[in-house]
Amino acid sequence: MLTRALALTSLLSCASYAAAHPTSRSVSAAPSSYAIWAADSAIARGQGHGLDSDGNVQLSYEHGELQWALRLLYESTGNETYYDYIVSGATNIIEDDGSVLDYVPEENQLDSIRVGPTFLYLYETTGDEKWKTAADTLRAQLDVHPRTEEGQFWHKTRYPEQGWLDGIYMGDIFYAQYTAQLEPDNITAWDDINLQFELMYDNTLQSTAANNTNIGLLYHGYDYSQAQTWASSDRGHSPEIWDRAMGWYMMALVDTLDIVPADSTAHATLLSQLTDLAPKVVAAADPDAGVWWLVMSQPGREGNYFESSGAAMFVYALLKGVREGYVADADGSIVAAVSKAYEYMVDNWVEDAGDGTMNWEATVSVGSLSGASDFDYYISVDTVENDLKGLAAFLLASIEYEQL
Ligand SMILES: *[C@@H]1O[C@H](CO)[C@@H](O)[C@H](O)[C@H]1NC(C)=O
Ligand SMILES: *[C@@H]1O[C@H](CO)[C@@H](O)[C@H](O)[C@H]1NC(C)=O
Ligand SMILES: *[C@@H]1O[C@H](CO)[C@@H](O)[C@H](O)[C@H]1NC(C)=O
Repeated sequence: MLTRALALTSLLSCASYAAAHPTSRSVSAAPSSYAIWAADSAIARGQGHGLDSDGNVQLSYEHGELQWALRLLYESTGNETYYDYIVSGATNIIEDDGSVLDYVPEENQLDSIRVGPTFLYLYETTGDEKWKTAADTLRAQLDVHPRTEEGQFWHKTRYPEQGWLDGIYMGDIFYAQYTAQLEPDNITAWDDINLQFELMYDNTLQSTAANNTNIGLLYHGYDYSQAQTWASSDRGHSPEIWDRAMGWYMMALVDTLDIVPADSTAHATLLSQLTDLAPKVVAAADPDAGVWWLVMSQPGREGNYFESSGAAMFVYALLKGVREGYVADADGSIVAAVSKAYEYMVDNWVEDAGDGTMNWEATVSVGSLSGASDFDYYISVDTVENDLKGLAAFLLASIEYEQL
């Protein structure tokens, strides 16, 4: 039984972890684990717990992202605090019968289904049918989700005919995990997951550039209908490469690769995309700082800045890609470059709040294709302290970095 096995490894890893990481954490000294500090700080603030800041129930992809990270932290430390926080947060957003609160199916938001992997995980560990009911509710959306003529899921009803990189992270990790766990022989589903990544990549890959640097990464999204003013005349792609969209995509690649069958077309597609993109992401880092610009397609332009959520996502995805053997790094140059980025993050974006918690800085609050989607738009958006999209990514990055 999975739960039993998990409990046993938990005890063992807990003891060895505690020996290697003394728990005393003075206010001024560096913490023994940034992963633990980040997680404990999020928990102390009640972040990612199925509720918004006013205590209202909230179905949020950010919570899904944090829960994914807490699951990995639980698996590496064996500390039940993290598992329990996932359970209580997920319990806040479902009824006892498994119906999902704050869910509006007709909005067809890929964002809404990012909590799905949490439900699947809790179904796996507890066997409680309410979690399967909740996962089934979100999975049903994908059967009716509107698509472009080529088959790409729209980002939302509100953004017709548009594929955004963000949506691959929000929708396809869940799609893959659901299929692996509950319908492993569903070839149609595996092929559809493959199609989502293929279409997104082919329609957004930067192949030429006007005055922008051609860095060969993926534009934020595309409008298949080319109705938006920002849509390019070739594939309808948006004008800039935004670091967090690229970060979501890189995380989706490494996380989904772990889930899709090794002999599937999807596995080959994702692996090929990851091995193509990984060196380009490394090359796009600022040579001095080691981290990445908010608008990656215009490095160094006045008003552009180093943004923290994208950086943390790249660190996680690249370190995990190398650790899992998806990305070759024979000379260690990728791990070295990413370690430099991680050290920049810790030195510049982690602040001791003085009350035992840490603050996480410099995460841009949003990036959307709803308006001009140009350079001036991206740099006009505020950064927010302790933004969970960035803090959860820092937790993920720290889990990987601390395994090196
Ligand atoms: C688990 O984590 C919590 C929060 O950091 C901590 O207070 C507790 O001591 C940890 N438990 C163990 C067994 O390490
Ligand atoms: C398999 O996946 C497809 C595509 O998502 C879906 O329409 C279909 O209902 C699934 N089939 C089964 C037997 O679950
Ligand atoms: C490229 O830069 C030149 C000179 O700064 C400018 O005149 C031109 O409009 C720019 N082209 C594009 C497509 O941005």
